[in-house]
Amino acid sequence: MSDAVHDLYQTHAYPAMSHPSTDPAATAVAARLAGLDAPDPSHARILDIGCATGHNLLPLAARWPKARFTGIDFSKPAIEEASESARLAGLTNVEFIGADLKTFNPGDGVNYDFIISHGIYSWVPGAVRQALLDFCATRLSPQGIAMISYNTLPGWSLRKSIANLTKLLSAESTSKPIGQEPEQILASLLMAAGNHNPYSRYLTQVLHDIFGQGGYFLRFDDLGPINEPCTFLDFIAHTSRSGLLYLAESLLCENFPCALAPEAAEILKPLAGEPHLLQQTIDVLTNRSFRHSLLCRADAPVERHPNPTSVLKFAVRCPHVMKHIAGGVRLMNHSGGELARCEKALEVALFSVLSKTNPETVPFHEVIVHMAEFLKQPFDYSRHLLPLAEVVMEAARKGLISLRSEAVRFNPEPPAVPALGALRLLAARNGQPMVDAYHMPCHLDDERKRQLAAAMDGSRTMDELTALANTNAPDFNVAAWLKHLAARGMFG
Ligand SMILES: C[S@@+](CC[C@H](N)C(=O)[O-])C[C@H]1O[C@@H](n2cnc3c(N)ncnc32)[C@H](O)[C@@H]1O
Repeated sequence: MSDAVHDLYQTHAYPAMSHPSTDPAATAVAARLAGLDAPDPSHARILDIGCATGHNLLPLAARWPKARFTGIDFSKPAIEEASESARLAGLTNVEFIGADLKTFNPGDGVNYDFIISHGIYSWVPGAVRQALLDFCATRLSPQGIAMISYNTLPGWSLRKSIANLTKLLSAESTSKPIGQEPEQILASLLMAAGNHNPYSRYLTQVLHDIFGQGGYFLRFDDLGPINEPCTFLDFIAHTSRSGLLYLAESLLCENFPCALAPEAAEILKPLAGEPHLLQQTIDVLTNRSFRHSLLCRADAPVERHPNPTSVLKFAVRCPHVMKHIAGGVRLMNHSGGELARCEKALEVALFSVLSKTNPETVPFHEVIVHMAEFLKQPFDYSRHLLPLAEVVMEAARKGLISLRSEAVRFNPEPPAVPALGALRLLAARNGQPMVDAYHMPCHLDDERKRQLAAAMDGSRTMDELTALANTNAPDFNVAAWLKHLAARGMFG
């Protein structure tokens, strides 16, 4: 079976992707709030296991020149492409090694502050799963953290049944009665599923999710040679047997997801002392299908009840649309759907400041200075600090704000002569997604965008780029797109 996984990745390139849940600037925050004083990522040693073409690791290496990065993967073509991209982007703090995780030995005394393992655990044979956990247990630095993503039950169970059925229906041994290719079979199932009762609507939604990835993805994901979802408790049992300790989910908003009913917080309070059981209960209540869990060594110095005000040591931004309304601030998603209304004085002052600092991420000490203006009185540290910390934790838990270990500064307006930087330019020229300042992929989903991005090498003014775009696509709003890119920190 392991050969099937190996052969797949030797012969098919895994699509280039970046994953915000693996970003050490976010995972360091989640670990510190869970009580482990995780290292400063900007000077850390960072390993990506199963790094594919390096699309997740390279932007981090470009961001933190003083940190050291290693990517390993047993796909030879992927490692060759990753090494070539590092060379073309002029990155000298990253190395890519062609190696099988089962035998990878980084050398005596080498350990890592951050280990990233995205898209591996559920998709490899049991022996490789075990090797992954053993590696983390022995190669994490004393306060290091590993981020491991995996498919969870019960959320993945229907997907698993659909995948098994699709494999059966497309097997060589059958007459392929409802379609030759897996995509055709899934399309037939989608049509047959209907939309006439709660189950059919759920099934349709799951089939849409599978389709939404695109046909190319199916061979790696749902229809991959191995796809073994597990329950959270089974994962925890495996990690603790291997000498690792669960800290939290890598994104704060995933510890107690908003998908839970408002009354769940009160009802589940008695489970506070049983965090693993609480998480398993949440998975059943929300039908969770995927997790990004943070682990540390079992002997790591974890202080389970850190000072609540420690949350104010980080940097913050609000990624949502904020509007002042009578008596408060309204938070909305980008389609205008309401996320929250803030009416308490501290909340209103916090979001009023964040509406001015958005889209940058700024340290709380700066936010606090400006909050006085909206509180209409000086910020009183003895009176306001703890309530502010509580407001911040609640907002982070609900995903209303994002916290990072460090500030993210950039000019949110497009420069007169747009220059994307070597790595983003390379991605644009290769037709891959560009990675923004928050490690989010920006898909160049049409040829006009790809061509235009590839021309943003610092040699053309805005007017020249507009003229270039207009020759091929007169209806394309170049100024609006440049503004969008600038607001994502693409121009530094
Ligand atoms: C699903 S892809 C994930 C790629 C990337 N981490 C991501 O999430 O975008 C899995 C990657 O793990 C690699 N891989 C699988 N088993 C491996 C092993 N035993 N040793 C090294 N790499 C392995 C594959 O070659 C492939 O690039």
